[in-house]
Amino acid sequence: MEIIVFGGGYVGLVQAAGLASTGNEVTIAEVDDDKITQINSGQAPFYEPQLPELLSKGVEQSQLRAVKVGSDEFDKRLKSAEIIFIAVQTPESSDGSADLKYVFEVVDTISKLPGDLSDRVVVMKSTVPVGTGDAVENRFNTHGKNPIVASNPEFLKQGSAVRDFMQPERVIIGSENERAQELLSYIYKPFMLKRERIICMGRRSAELVKYACNAFLATKISFINEISQLAEMIGADIRDIRRGMITDSRIGDQFLFPGVGFGGSCFPKDTISLVHQGEKFSVPMRIPQAVDQVNKRQRTWALLNLKDIFKELKDKSIAIWGLSFKPKTDDLREAPSVYLIEELIKAGAKVRAHDPIAIDRAKTLLAKHSSKIQYFEDMYAAAESADALVLMTEWHEYRSPSFKKLSEILKNKIILDGRNVFGPEITRQYGFRYRGVGIPENLK
Ligand code: UDX
Repeated sequence: MEIIVFGGGYVGLVQAAGLASTGNEVTIAEVDDDKITQINSGQAPFYEPQLPELLSKGVEQSQLRAVKVGSDEFDKRLKSAEIIFIAVQTPESSDGSADLKYVFEVVDTISKLPGDLSDRVVVMKSTVPVGTGDAVENRFNTHGKNPIVASNPEFLKQGSAVRDFMQPERVIIGSENERAQELLSYIYKPFMLKRERIICMGRRSAELVKYACNAFLATKISFINEISQLAEMIGADIRDIRRGMITDSRIGDQFLFPGVGFGGSCFPKDTISLVHQGEKFSVPMRIPQAVDQVNKRQRTWALLNLKDIFKELKDKSIAIWGLSFKPKTDDLREAPSVYLIEELIKAGAKVRAHDPIAIDRAKTLLAKHSSKIQYFEDMYAAAESADALVLMTEWHEYRSPSFKKLSEILKNKIILDGRNVFGPEITRQYGFRYRGVGIPENLK
């Protein structure tokens, strides 16, 4: 099928490359020249495992290309596209609601096509507030166009987005229109040979499912984080509590890892958006609200512990392992590490940072603090002479470090483990003062 995807970001690129891999003719419509050049040379503009391979294959086989919005090639591809995905960004506006200006720009561009467009399916892939499908449809109508507008929320996790695309747990099609259901089922069929996983529903329901899933997963994380705070005060071990909980199959074992708070482009934004959407309809979203509050408090875990240990952070040198909001990505959006670094600098401390992938991005994002942050290619070099080591992201490389080496190079033998990767059992053997999330320091 001929498909055009507006937006070559995380969502659009995986979507486009994935659909090109099953023989569709896919065009990515972008406004950023650098991104276009990168994509057309088979490179991803960000780190995502398996994506460069998929992109290069699509480009080499001429199934995939990126074009500039407004170019002749773009006009040609848009004219012949049967399915149009919108995967542009929806940034948070100052009041916390999603800003849809890029979505509407795309609608206006599509509306320039001749005809009434009733044979086209326009699919919303960006996470948008419930009712956006209706607003998009209305905007098309004001231009005298009436394409079929469907919702098809994405459930990709960064770090395993390609695998998630190729083996989806489900595909949700939000449209009661038969043609939309038929075309979308057709393009997703190759990814569900083992089991049918397409679920069709109304557009508004599909829009809300996405928020419900993300807010629920975020709820699990904030719940375990809140219990971990209590465990710390009570003198209980969150690792045992978790073990006791997850054996109950109704609870399950996923998204119950305590940590320094959730980050990324989805959970923080989506929980807040749900709160705003509830307000609009006078349905207070108390749980998402609490989830957000707990998460904000959880992000302070490392800072509060450092303050508790050192009392004064001025001129202290703190080593940080892990900058990205989770492993296997270079994304720093809402990363707890960024919050920690900014607070440490405010308190007069210096930072020695290591991350396997995200250093370049961190240098750009935190450029204004460059004199206070040193970046290291080697994780042990970052720990050299530091007053304490804080683990913020559970990258594989950090999971079993040489504690002997660390005990020799750190100025103070202090480890704050924001992801409970090490545990006091091993670190104590090397004489470390150790605190984990929900693991009290004086745990017997
Ligand atoms: C999430 C959803 O999982 C995905 O379905 C949706 O499409 C986009 O948002 P992503 O943001 O890539 O995906 O990351 P995810 O693996 O869900 O983790 C989000 C955050 O929660 C990370 O900061 C992670 O460290 C944290 N987390 C996750 C925990 O703190 N504890 C856990 O048990 C799980």
